[in-house]
Amino acid sequence: KGYLALTFDDGPWPKTTEALLDGLAQRGVKATFFLVGAPVADHQDTVRRMADEGHQIGLHTWHHVSLQGMTREEIAAQLGKTQQTIQAVVGPEELMLRPPYGFVDETLKQWAKTPIVCWSVDTEDWKYRDADHVKKVIVEQAQDGDVVLMHDLYETSVRGALAAIDELQSRTDKTYAFVTVSQLAAI
Ligand code: NI
Repeated sequence: KGYLALTFDDGPWPKTTEALLDGLAQRGVKATFFLVGAPVADHQDTVRRMADEGHQIGLHTWHHVSLQGMTREEIAAQLGKTQQTIQAVVGPEELMLRPPYGFVDETLKQWAKTPIVCWSVDTEDWKYRDADHVKKVIVEQAQDGDVVLMHDLYETSVRGALAAIDELQSRTDKTYAFVTVSQLAAI
C-alpha cells in the first residue's frame, strides 16, 4: 500500500471548494489546502469545515504573490497576515507554507519557521481545465509518497480529483491511502 497527498491551492472558493469537500468526505479522503489569505475572512465557514473534517490547512500568501526577491519585511507582511487570519478561524495550529509558483529563495528559507511544501506531481489543471486530464495524471503518474498539485478554483479539477480517487480506490494492483502533507511527512 502506498500514500498520496492531494493538495489544492488558491482557495477558499466556496462554489467549487464545498463540492470538493463533499466528495472527499464521501470517500473518506483527507487532503491539504494552501489558502490565499484575502478570501478567508469572507469564507470562514468553508475554512472551518476543512479543519473540522480533518484536512490540513496551509499558507499561500495574502494576495497570491511571488515571494521571490522580497525582503524579510515584505515576506512577513504577506505571510504573517495570512497566518493570523487563518488562525483566527481554525485556532493556533502550525500552518505549512506553499510559496506561489514554487519560488523559494534564501531569504524565504531563513524567514520561514514552518516547512515549505512544493509538489512532485503537477496536474497543470489550471492550463488544461479538463477533468479527464487531471484524473489521468494522478492515476498514471502518481507514485507512493507523491504530493500532487491542483487548484480547487476549477470545477474540472474537483471532478478530476474525485474521479482519480474513485479509480485508485477501486483497484487492487495499486492501492493508496490519501493523507495530508503532515501525515505523509510523518510516515
Ligand atoms: Ni497558487
